[in-house]
Amino acid sequence: MGAVPPDPDATPIVVLVSGSGTNLQALIDAADDPAYGVRIAAVGADRHDIEALARAERHGIETFVLRTADFADRSAWDAALADEVARHGPALVVLAGFMKLAGAQFLERFGGRTVNTHPALSPAFPGMHAPADALAHGVKVTGATLFVVDAGVDTGPIVAQVAVPVLPDDDVESLHERIKSSERGMLVEWVGRLARDGFTVDGRHVISPRKDPA
Ligand code: GAR
Repeated sequence: MGAVPPDPDATPIVVLVSGSGTNLQALIDAADDPAYGVRIAAVGADRHDIEALARAERHGIETFVLRTADFADRSAWDAALADEVARHGPALVVLAGFMKLAGAQFLERFGGRTVNTHPALSPAFPGMHAPADALAHGVKVTGATLFVVDAGVDTGPIVAQVAVPVLPDDDVESLHERIKSSERGMLVEWVGRLARDGFTVDGRHVISPRKDPA
């Protein structure tokens, strides 16, 4: 996979979203501080009328929408997504609640520099319903995982994880909200580190030069 070099100025990122955008909002707030080292060059979505896009627009960040339904097939959509993301020149692409899989053409151009946040402790509970799957399985601890996107479903090399307890009275919503409140901190911390320090991927391992001891 590729490498993201350190950037002396704010590192441009593109964030892809599909929903409420609380993770995006955390990145927007962090990027307001120049010391964070990240500039959100654009926010892209696979659907209109979502709060995540409204958050970007309120902050004056350029947005774009590419709906799969508007393309002949998934591969045409995937190529258009890669073109649109490339137009904004990101060093790093962040999937923050983006409910589509990046396809082969996207990964050809952005593999090794695209990260995704997933609401479970990988490799447990990949897919779209991780909090519900964790609850149904009866686990007592779940969490969130930031990983470098590969061709699988939530299978890529792990950047960081945060653990969250499952409480006896949890339903899917309360559990997902608890995960998200820890997930946002993890995302902000690690997107900042990856952007400021750069990183390489060696097999299953993500190596960032100034990674602190765990
Ligand atoms: C987050 O929990 C994210 O991990 C999850 O969607 C939520 C988005 O919340 N993503 C996935 O499940 C992707 N498979 P947000 O829109 O409030 O940031």
